[in-house]
Order: sequence, then C-alpha cells, then structure tokens
Amino acid sequence: MAKAAVQHACSECGYTTGKWLGRCPACSAWGTLVEERALAPAPGVRGAAAEGRPLLRLVEIEATDSERIPTGVAELDRVLGGGLVPASLVLVSGDPGIGKSTLLLMALRAMSSERKAVLVTGEESSAQVKLRADRLGGAGDVRVLAETNLDEVCATLERERPEVCVVDSVQTLYAPELGSAPGSVAQVREAAGRFLRASKEHGIATFLVGHVTKEGAVAGPRVLEHLVDCVLHFEGDRYRSHRVLRAVKNRFGSTNELGVFEMTSAGLEAVEDPSELFGRPDEEQPGSAVVCTIEGTRPLLLEVQALVSPTDLAMPRRVGTGVDPKRLSMIVAVLGRHAGVALGQADVFVNVAGGVRIDEPGADLGVALAIASAARAAPVKQGLACFGEIGLTGELRHVAHADRRLAEAAKFGLDDVVRPGEGIRTLRDALRGAKQARAA
Ligand SMILES: Nc1ncnc2c1ncn2[C@@H]1O[C@H](COP(=O)(O)OP(=O)(O)OP(=O)(O)O)[C@@H](O)[C@H]1O
Ligand SMILES: [Mg+2]
Repeated sequence: MAKAAVQHACSECGYTTGKWLGRCPACSAWGTLVEERALAPAPGVRGAAAEGRPLLRLVEIEATDSERIPTGVAELDRVLGGGLVPASLVLVSGDPGIGKSTLLLMALRAMSSERKAVLVTGEESSAQVKLRADRLGGAGDVRVLAETNLDEVCATLERERPEVCVVDSVQTLYAPELGSAPGSVAQVREAAGRFLRASKEHGIATFLVGHVTKEGAVAGPRVLEHLVDCVLHFEGDRYRSHRVLRAVKNRFGSTNELGVFEMTSAGLEAVEDPSELFGRPDEEQPGSAVVCTIEGTRPLLLEVQALVSPTDLAMPRRVGTGVDPKRLSMIVAVLGRHAGVALGQADVFVNVAGGVRIDEPGADLGVALAIASAARAAPVKQGLACFGEIGLTGELRHVAHADRRLAEAAKFGLDDVVRPGEGIRTLRDALRGAKQARAA
C-alpha cells in the first residue's frame, strides 16, 4: 500500500494519524490535530548497504570531563549544575513575558567576552534586541542573526562555528521543505533535531527558547524534552518581580536546584537570600507557617499559607498552588484521621509564597501546620519554623539535611523549630509542639 503523503499530528502530544480526528486519541485534547506533509524517504535511500561498525569497549574509551562554561549569571550556572556543558542543548521554557529573552541575553553577553556567541532571533528584530541590550547595560560582543529559515540558520552556524548560541525561539523557525506552519509539531521536532546535530557535531552549546501552552507544558511534542540535555523552566508570579528558574531535566546535574531572580528595569538580578524574600511573613496570622525546605543544595525558608472555609459542596475543594495536589489531599486526610483536625466540611486552599513550587516531602509539616492553624483560627507563633515528612499513619518522619535546615532557620532568627525528633514522633505531637511554643 502506498504511504500516505499527508498525516495529521497532534500539536499537544505529537500523536500522528492518517486521517483527521476532532479529538486526539492519545491526549484527549480537542481540535489539536493539524495536517502536515509526511516526508517519504527518497527512493533508494532506505536499505542502502550498511555493513555495521566495530564495537568499542567502554573501559577503553578516553573521556575527559570537559570544563564547563561559566554563563556569567551565577543562578543560571547553579541550575545548570555548575555552568554550561560545552556542546550541550538546553531548552528554556516559560510563560510569555516572564523574561526568557532577558535572561539568555544577559548570559550571552557575559559569555561573549571570551567566546564567540551568537543570538538567533526569530521573534524580535535586531533593533529590538539592541534596545533590550541597551536597557540591560550593553551588548558585549554578541552577534545577532535575525532569521527564521532553519536552513539559513543552520548553514550560518556551521560556517561561523560559535561556541555558544541562543535560539529565540524554536517555535518561530521553519524548514520550507516540511510545508507545515512554523510552530507545528513537525517543524519544532525538525528544528530541535537539527540543532541537536549541530551542537554535537560542531561543539556549539545551544540554548533553545520554547513557549509553553496554557497548561504549562512545553508547546510542541514531548519529544522535544527527550531530545535535549537539559530542560529549564522559568516561572514566577508575573505580577510580582521575582522569578524562579528550575531544572526539570538535567543530564549533567541535579534537577532540584533553584535559581531565584528579581526582575528590574536593568535586567534580572540574582536574589542571594531567597529565604529573606519568601520566608518572612509580615505579621502573625492564622493560616501561615514557615517551613525549611532544601532545594537542591541550598536550604530555603518558605511561607506556606492556607485558607480553610466551610462549604456545602459534596466534594470539598483542595486547591494547592505550589504544592502537589495529591500530597495536599494526603495531608488533609492525615490531619483529619490522626490529628483531630476535621476538614470534611471545608474547602482547603494552600499557597506557597513567591510562586515557588515545593516537591520535597520535608515541607509536609509546613503545609499541615498552616492548614491546622487556619482551621483553628490560631496563628502560628512568629519566629517558629518547621520541617518533616508526614506518613500515612500520622507519624512524622526524619528528612535529610536537618542540620542545614536548622542553620538556615537560625540565620533568620527562627529559633523555635518543630521537627521530628525527641518527643515529636507524630503529626499530633508536632501540632501540640507548635501550640506549646505559642503559649510559652
Ligand atoms: N523597563 C523595564 N522595567 C522593568 N521590567 C521590564 C522592563 N522592560 C521589560 N521588563 C520586564 O521584562 C519582561 C519581558 O522580558 P522578556 O522579553 O525577556 O520575556 P520573554 O520571556 O522573552 O517574553 P516572550 O515570551 O514574549 O519572548 C516583561 O514582562 C517585564 O517584566
Ligand atoms: Mg522573548
């Protein structure tokens, strides 16, 4: 049977099918299937005589850990795991206007003093980039290519062989032979594949800027996230000035690292002490608790806020911003079952300060304490912090790096820390401990 010349691909998940469908069978999104031309292999190409290649012994391969390139933006280095790995491909994604172009232009400028640095801009004109550079305090020796044709971009990179390159954004590039619109699944996949080849073959460390969909996923196929070496998410509250950069995937480092910035008119400034920013409730109020978490290698104090409000809904709501919804439901259940905080008739809302997301189990106790405080309308004592993992049986478990958490709390003058240990073995004990601290 002849191969279909046209196929339909889902712009959300990359699923392809021969015929058009209203709903994607793979991800159940409506109206996301778009037509694209399938490239038939040129006659005679397939099955060309391949003889196979000799195998190598892994032990015999000589590899030196290549030196990382400092990006000039310390927080970005931290998230990358100690600098940019030469010839790596890094995807930076984030909401519109969050500051992706700003961050990468700052890094590129810093790197351009010692390395050949190229900015491929498909989204803005060279003049717009210049205006931004002026605002950020200079353009260094950054070279600009305003181009959206993928062939041209790749040919230029091959000729120029820069050491670092930023592509802003991967969704604006198009390969004319594919015939589909820029930003479509096929185009994004093709562009990423070509940059992958270019970066590995010519040793170009490449940053790709990627847009995100409404749901926060990187637009285009998931395939993009598999292709690249690192995926960094730039997020934060757009209505406030701080931004958080985190690694979602990193082939060369930890994915727990967090970079915190503040957006100013002169660009992004590193926030040296995020605990100061996020872990300082202004006043004592019911429903607010400070938790010591560990994000990657650094301890971080975060304020967790909760609201508990009576509801008539048959299924009360549990809404968490910055907390995993499953974890939140679990904590609410344990509070009800093992700590005497009944929440069956109440909506529970939880929010973590500063748009930071906590994935670490050590923050469980902070969430529980905030909810209990909101439910009982009794504020947690100012100057009290907590950490600890909550188990399904209501016990409080030890978590890693307790000493570093305590040191961070002490640094900010929080001397009362409720944590698993002597006398505090269960969630009930911890709540009682917090109450006693208040009474004392
Ligand atoms: N003069 C200024 N003073 C303070 N902040 C500014 C100023 N100009 C721009 N910004 C900030 O920079 C942000 C835009 O940054 P940038 O263009 O790098 O974002 P982006 O993520 O690349 O956006 P896009 O998705 O449109 O490419 C604005 O949302 C604003 O917060
Ligand atoms: Mg931009």
